[in-house]
Amino acid sequence: MALTLDPELRRALAERVRYCHEMGIYDFYRREPGPAGLMESGSAASEIVSAGLPSASTVLRSELREEISARKSVAVPSIAEGNILEIVSPKAEYGVADPAAALKLIREDLGDCTRCKLHQQGRKQIVFGVGNPRAELMFVGEGPGADEDTQGEPFVGRAGQLLNNMIKAMGLQREDVYIANIVKCRPPGNRTPEPDECETCSPFLMRQIAAIKPKVVVALGATAAKNLLAMNSSLGDLRGRFYDFKPAGSLVDSSWPGARLAVTYHPAYLLRDPRQKGEAWKDLQMVMKYLGIESPKKAAE
Ligand code: URA
Repeated sequence: MALTLDPELRRALAERVRYCHEMGIYDFYRREPGPAGLMESGSAASEIVSAGLPSASTVLRSELREEISARKSVAVPSIAEGNILEIVSPKAEYGVADPAAALKLIREDLGDCTRCKLHQQGRKQIVFGVGNPRAELMFVGEGPGADEDTQGEPFVGRAGQLLNNMIKAMGLQREDVYIANIVKCRPPGNRTPEPDECETCSPFLMRQIAAIKPKVVVALGATAAKNLLAMNSSLGDLRGRFYDFKPAGSLVDSSWPGARLAVTYHPAYLLRDPRQKGEAWKDLQMVMKYLGIESPKKAAE
């Protein structure tokens, strides 16, 4: 059966699954939709029901609709329909308190990933992420370029040098933060990753964020911002404010209130248009203020 799921409903379902996980409910089963259908007939959501949820279809349907409207101002990343079963299965890192150990388990689960077409489009290796597993600040870029693909580490090329300078200007070291990308494999010719590639990779990034529990996530550039926020606005419109962020579909530590998410320009864009560095610096200063970091340094050169 073709999986067609309204994006809003899909996000609501992912949120519901996360909520169930927080309640300690891990067992889900599939059942055939009734004559009236649990929700839209034939949708993936109509077939997946938590063992711990009320079975009345109308209750679930209206609850999900309420969740959709309640979430209007909250960032909820998108989850691919094909990932729904990936989301509902318990993860190896659940209950592992040490973030470094949790990240190691997520990396092992990722394996030599062949889940999307990028694995057969020239990638040399998976670029998982790097940095402090207990980082308060996390940067998320778009995807590995040629240098990152060769070295297996995000942001090590020219854009990476500028990111390092931005981090230093904030009064931090690269080792203090955690750096990852929306996709972990290099898109051929450095093209923008396609929606199916982003969505397939997303559960692993969400699990990394849930393991690290940062105070702030900075989305670098439009691809990161749009994917993390599930919003299609321009970068200019998305900048200049914080969003509440919890990784959809992942079990999160109940003591972690979630992160604040800020959006800024991608370092590669700043290399092309250095006039925007001042604006990027304003974004970083907003982050520094929230994290209580004082730095006399000026914007990265
Ligand atoms: N650009 C990105 O978005 N990520 C990297 O890792 C390198 C360049």
